[in-house]
Amino acid sequence: MKISVCGKGGSGKSAIVTLLAKGMQQRGYQALVVDSDESNLGLYRMLGFDRAPVPLMELVGGKKSLKQKMSQPEVLAQAEIWLKDIPPEYMVERDGIGLVAIGKIMQSLEGCACPMGVLSREFLKKLRLKEAEVAIVDMEAGVEHFGRGVETSIDSVLVVVEPSFDSLEIAERIKDLAIGSGVNNTWVVLNKVASEEMDSSLRKELRKRNMDAIGSIYYDLEIFQASLEGHPLGKGRAAEETVRILDRLLAQAKLKVQVRH
Ligand SMILES: Nc1ncnc2c1ncn2[C@@H]1O[C@H](COP(=O)(O)OP(=O)(O)OP(=O)(O)O)[C@@H](O)[C@H]1O
Ligand SMILES: [Mg+2]
Repeated sequence: MKISVCGKGGSGKSAIVTLLAKGMQQRGYQALVVDSDESNLGLYRMLGFDRAPVPLMELVGGKKSLKQKMSQPEVLAQAEIWLKDIPPEYMVERDGIGLVAIGKIMQSLEGCACPMGVLSREFLKKLRLKEAEVAIVDMEAGVEHFGRGVETSIDSVLVVVEPSFDSLEIAERIKDLAIGSGVNNTWVVLNKVASEEMDSSLRKELRKRNMDAIGSIYYDLEIFQASLEGHPLGKGRAAEETVRILDRLLAQAKLKVQVRH
């Protein structure tokens, strides 16, 4: 399964990607996290790695060369990419969780992020997963990635909604864009919920927009503290809530809990 985690900027996508990857690992899956956010650098820290992987953009000669190749039908030489084919410097890996990054904007005036969009789309299309493997994509904020077609080979989209009008509005647009991209499942998860009252108001707002939440993750001081200090996420209430949500997702996607060898 290839699942992309989308939503408004700052809604908690990277935190939830991290907790989902850890939950997948607990359920016996090999989780490949794909960092498709060209701005934020800290996902490797949230996941507990001590270095970031070399971006896949370097595998195709860097941004300049990628830009030149964009007029060609394909930018990656391989027809299929299996996890074992990814060179070690491009994937950091430990205990059933791997992390690859598409590319980062590091310099001023280096141009737009379109080449990264092209590479994300092609990498995800060519990525081949075995039965016990899942890819979880940490998307950039907003909806531009839909315009770039990054979701065309994604099976499921998980939209993170925080308690704000904009976040609800973006979720509604993502739901429609996901349908347009041929995605099978679109799920909504509420994040940073502060009380049961807030949870029911948010669910009411979702229903007005013909959406339903598959679960809620409450505001969790451990996430706040770990993010502030650049420490790994993984313990506490939000982690437990994410695993419960994950079990619902796996059941709906008809995937089994795996026994990893
Ligand atoms: N359940 C939660 N409880 C408390 N704080 C949270 C929770 N989820 C996320 N946060 C905090 O919200 C901030 C944004 O989280 P995160 O970086 O995961 O969001 P994002 O959607 O990936 O942001 P961006 O759009 O910049 O990539 C972080 O400081 C994080 O600690
Ligand atoms: Mg993020």
